[in-house]
Amino acid sequence: MQPLSPLSLDTIRSTLATQAFGRRIDLHDRIDSTNREAVALAHAGVEHGTVVVTDSQTEGRGRLSRQWFSPPAVNLYCSIVIRKPIGADQMAEWLSWLPLITALAAAESIDTIAAASVSVKWPNDLLIAERKIGGILCESGTGARSGSYQIVGLGLNVNGDRNDFPEDLRETATTIRHETGHPVERNRLLARFLHELEACVEEFESRGSERLALAYQQRCGTIGKTVKATLTDGKEFIGLAEGIEQDGTLRVVQRPLPTDGRPPDIQRLRVADIIHVRT
Ligand code: BTN
Repeated sequence: MQPLSPLSLDTIRSTLATQAFGRRIDLHDRIDSTNREAVALAHAGVEHGTVVVTDSQTEGRGRLSRQWFSPPAVNLYCSIVIRKPIGADQMAEWLSWLPLITALAAAESIDTIAAASVSVKWPNDLLIAERKIGGILCESGTGARSGSYQIVGLGLNVNGDRNDFPEDLRETATTIRHETGHPVERNRLLARFLHELEACVEEFESRGSERLALAYQQRCGTIGKTVKATLTDGKEFIGLAEGIEQDGTLRVVQRPLPTDGRPPDIQRLRVADIIHVRT
């Protein structure tokens, strides 16, 4: 394999075409978690669009309190601080949409830079050929003096070897290089992702969710499938994932349908762990 170029601020900036995202970029060689660092920076009052990126993480965080495999030199681990003047009445909707918008932006940037075909498993697992190449962890909070913020964390398995994954991930995870057969320049990929994400966030603010919802649903392999959802209280619900609601939740209709004439239960999911049962 040809040597991979290191992450570098100059190289990221050489193709970065954004207004606010990446105006400040903190690049680390090694850090515990870019999300943890971004939360600390947000509390300290850093500006909208600040990016934390690192070559490796010692305590990368995944969804549902899992760890994120974060070896050096091959992958992308980054977090972006977002500050939007969103009213309390619209905050829940914005927080539902943000992971979906981020997944869409990540998928579009990977398709463009790596000539790949990325699909999304709701809410924000990034897949190639049904195996996971990336994940997104969004967090939010309010600093006493710095106001409210959201953190978008993206981890992508870019240039690694599938055999390097820990055994429990080897069946379900893969890398972009493994699937496309060629290495991907991480600096260009990051710059493109920041561009796509900024554009999606601006579109959501100015024009709402209509086009973004359509684009997300086209990418999302979960829609139209029967899924088993583990809810936040640990209960399980099996149903047909019909689509994304206006408020960003996933609408799942009970399967099998009741046979006693009762209408099926309908769940509108904001947070859940799902597996695709069948098409
Ligand atoms: C998932 O479980 O699918 C979400 C994984 C998110 C991992 C990324 S890597 C960069 C950022 N920093 C973290 O600690 N986690 C996210």
